[in-house]
Amino acid sequence: MHFLLFEFFIFYMIFVNNVSLRYGKRVLFEDVNLKFTEGNCYGIIGANGAGKSTFLKIISGEIDPSTGRVEISKDQRMSVLKQNHYEFDEITVLETVMRGNSRLYDIMKAKDAIYAKEDFTEEDGIKAGELEAQFAEMDGWNAESDAAMLLSNLGVKEEFHTKLLKELDGNQKVRVLLAQALFGNPDILLLDEPTNDLDLETIAWLENFLADYDKIVLVVSHDRHFLDTVCTHVADIDFGKITIFTGNYSFWYESSQLLLKQRSESNRKAEDKIRELQEFIARFSANASKSKQATSRKKALDKIKLEDMKASNRKYPAILFNNQVREAGDQILEVKNLSKSLNGEVLFKDISFDLKRGQKVAVLSSNSLATRAFYQILASEDKEYEGMYKWGVTITPTYLPSDNSSFFENKDLNLIDWLRQYSEEKDETFIRGFLGRMLFSGEETLKKCTVLSGGEKVRCMLSRMMMLKGNFLLLDEPTNHLDLESITALNNGMKDFKGTFLFTTRDHALAQSVTDRILEITPNGLIDREMSFDEYMENDRVKAQRQEMYGSVLA
Ligand SMILES: Nc1ncnc2c1ncn2[C@@H]1O[C@H](COP(=O)(O)OP(=O)(O)OP(=O)(O)O)[C@@H](O)[C@H]1O
Ligand SMILES: [Mg+2]
Repeated sequence: MHFLLFEFFIFYMIFVNNVSLRYGKRVLFEDVNLKFTEGNCYGIIGANGAGKSTFLKIISGEIDPSTGRVEISKDQRMSVLKQNHYEFDEITVLETVMRGNSRLYDIMKAKDAIYAKEDFTEEDGIKAGELEAQFAEMDGWNAESDAAMLLSNLGVKEEFHTKLLKELDGNQKVRVLLAQALFGNPDILLLDEPTNDLDLETIAWLENFLADYDKIVLVVSHDRHFLDTVCTHVADIDFGKITIFTGNYSFWYESSQLLLKQRSESNRKAEDKIRELQEFIARFSANASKSKQATSRKKALDKIKLEDMKASNRKYPAILFNNQVREAGDQILEVKNLSKSLNGEVLFKDISFDLKRGQKVAVLSSNSLATRAFYQILASEDKEYEGMYKWGVTITPTYLPSDNSSFFENKDLNLIDWLRQYSEEKDETFIRGFLGRMLFSGEETLKKCTVLSGGEKVRCMLSRMMMLKGNFLLLDEPTNHLDLESITALNNGMKDFKGTFLFTTRDHALAQSVTDRILEITPNGLIDREMSFDEYMENDRVKAQRQEMYGSVLA
């Protein structure tokens, strides 16, 4: 008892007491009782739409639960890196970081508003004086240089600090958003899918960062490797419950699969099942402690107990692109000397190629702004480029953008009406068919498109794409936000697709399983190879060529 009290005073904790959340009839979770303790990193996992982002919003106080409460002691600071990486796009890097200390930021803005007034009254003068005093007390004058220092420590060079966030590529952007979260000097760090938009190198950087970070971290992710590297615990949202398991993602996954298998062999004796599980835990703990990532945090694995785990009930959507408007002819896509610059920076130059029917092409660049611009040009969304491209007359391209915000923002539509916008056939049964394949049925189809989770939005975009029946797909980071079941379904859909596609992904397994040609678009021209993704990555001549093409850009 004494020990527990002692523990309470030393450690920061989050207590979740009887928390439930319902939207209408839909129960996301009910009577959740959990404790999160300092020094641990909790991976929040669950299918798309399970309620991971919602749970983080309840912890951070952004939304109230239907019942119950979250207890955090008053002096604990909390910061959040949200799932939407486009929220601060129109704001400069420095200001984005400073917004991380919201009290200071509000004072700054209030001050600026008063000074901007034309009829500056005596009252305004007094108010401004008060704000100045608070500002100075919070060390406001140093805020900008503190923010700049933090950014530099996180690897964001000074030349970027005055740029707008939208001018940064995904890797730099997430570093800025992390700097924003850290700027408030938090005791609790909430990260919602931070690895979306990151390349492997930056993910490794984030993994290291989090391994050394000794506060309470709650991180949502669908990235198995990332979760395994950073998590000491897994909080699984499923069956309307949230359950914490000690151990990393692989442990949770393997035991959940084992339970699934055991459940189907229902006539086996209970003791046999328990023994098998215990052996599994012992084996797993032994292997994990030998692995490279066996940091001190991983010692938690030794304490694993046989908990009452349930098999997962995740579902697979059906992603089928084969219902094409018409068969493609021989002319697919011709691109000649295509070049694009953004604010004086060359994103890619002199890109020329022809595509053959049925080719499955991965488009690479060291800069995600380049691939994004490339797709926007081919989708006729960006007219500011040099060179030309020409679609074959039989080709109907459909585009899945990496940023889908504009499709959903300010749209007061339920899912049926949302999808109906893009359909010639207006019949509800027809529309429901496409939503059903993406796991939206019954009442779910009547919710507003604005409340959709990150993965649900991508599923809707995929429904739209399937419905448009294109015979050419442009897929820019299609796996972002998707859970493993949806990624598997997408992977199969792409493998089976009879048409042609260009796609960009950071998902190695997906790239390797579908690609038969690689186009790497660089500021000094194109690297074009008909080979698999792994062959491309390992090829010495390609390596030399990449070095030459990117020159100092890669260094
Ligand atoms: N205001 C609301 N009304 C009705 N349903 C809502 C509302 N807000 C969210 N939802 C639904 O609650 C569910 C949980 O959403 P949430 O964003 O927490 O999911 P998630 O687990 O983070 O999923 P993802 O992995 O796709 O990001 C979703 O099905 C979403 O559509
Ligand atoms: Mg989410």
